[in-house]
Amino acid sequence: MTTSTRLAELGLSDSGRRTTPPPISTLMQSALANPNLISLAAGFVDPETLPTALVGDIVAEFAHDPALGRQALQYGSTGGSPDLRWRMLAEMEREDRVAEGTYAAAFERTLLTTGSQQLLSLAADALLDPGDIVLVDSPTYFVFLGMMASRGVRTIGIETDEGGLNPEALAEKLAELEATGELARVKMVSVVSEHSNPTGVSLLADRRLPLVETVRRFSERAGRRIVLIEDAAYRGLGFDPEAPEPPSLFALDPQGEVVLHARTFSKTFSPGMKVGFGVVPVGLIGPLLALKGNQDFGSAHLNQVILSRAMANDRYHEHRRRVVAAYRRKRDVVLEALEEEFGPSGSVGISWTVPQGGMYVWLTLPETIDTGPQGDLFERACREGVLYVPGEFCFAAEPTPPRHHIRLCYGLPPVSALSEGIARLATAIRGRLDQIAVSGDALAAR
Ligand SMILES: Cc1ncc(COP(=O)(O)O)c(C=O)c1O
Repeated sequence: MTTSTRLAELGLSDSGRRTTPPPISTLMQSALANPNLISLAAGFVDPETLPTALVGDIVAEFAHDPALGRQALQYGSTGGSPDLRWRMLAEMEREDRVAEGTYAAAFERTLLTTGSQQLLSLAADALLDPGDIVLVDSPTYFVFLGMMASRGVRTIGIETDEGGLNPEALAEKLAELEATGELARVKMVSVVSEHSNPTGVSLLADRRLPLVETVRRFSERAGRRIVLIEDAAYRGLGFDPEAPEPPSLFALDPQGEVVLHARTFSKTFSPGMKVGFGVVPVGLIGPLLALKGNQDFGSAHLNQVILSRAMANDRYHEHRRRVVAAYRRKRDVVLEALEEEFGPSGSVGISWTVPQGGMYVWLTLPETIDTGPQGDLFERACREGVLYVPGEFCFAAEPTPPRHHIRLCYGLPPVSALSEGIARLATAIRGRLDQIAVSGDALAAR
């Protein structure tokens, strides 16, 4: 082929044309490429906490027990290791403080996936057509929003506050869609239930039942079940053992009417293993397994066996407790640094959330500051050597996204770099505020 030959265009599908890379990819690449940059953007877990020795020990066990090793290195099944699925159900019973065996009937509706991302994606494939409507907490996990955009789905954000999604606001929006004849297009409601990505906020215990009941009620009115995605990616990462996480949404719907409980080992153990787990509503497991069968007929079996072994004798929990302690310390450092720079939250028009678990803090700046990737603040922050995720990425297409928020993640930088990262960000913010004040004065003087 000569260099002058022009290739005809690829015949991309509608979905191929609609799909853009997640906005975070470029941010992550620049973070990795520049070692002096402090990335408060990348949602990476703390590298220091990764269970290298534990995974090494487990893999070494395969050498002493070749039969076990051979079994781990063989294909598994499409739904994934039954042993790990049983262990996860038992884990959920402990977390939800219900008697052992309470969730046993749900076993047939469980599956293991390649990260919880694959589970969310399979559910979207099984349930959504272009033009369907998905309601999400506002703000929400932006990769989920990207998946929706790629499928031509309409996303609508539902108001949240420091207690997470407001079920009354959800009921109002559903009633509004019913009044305009659009309820039949609503297929999903999605919430990040614990220590949310991006806000660090958890759904209050007393909002959980109203949320499940609202979805049930409107499912009946629609004449078809609306699936309530409980994206619990950060469950298990609560900081205060005296204040355990509230029972899951699944605990309020164990018979599997509407709730799809999505979990992952990426945050509590290792994202490199990409093991996700789900319990899905009645009727959905068949289509999900069929779709997964066509994609990969089972996720990495080796990783599932490693996790089973780690869970079998509590090594998993010892590790998880160490991860929680590390994040708690990092959260404290970030909050102290923010207070040092700006005084108490809200005192100078800049406020932030106080996460009780997980790895995100959500910063709200004065509305005059555009935090977007094309805005002056973002450029200033990069010049100062710090990266953040512009909040606008985390909002559904409707209503119009606000542009004065920032997602901060304290996962990747070492403790020693966190205060410096916040100091750099504060310099950028103050610089931008001064610039706005000067141009405001100039306008007033005209
Ligand atoms: C809220 C939320 N859900 C799901 C995921 C997917 O993670 P994984 O596919 O690694 O399980 C993430 C990852 O960052 C997340 O933040």
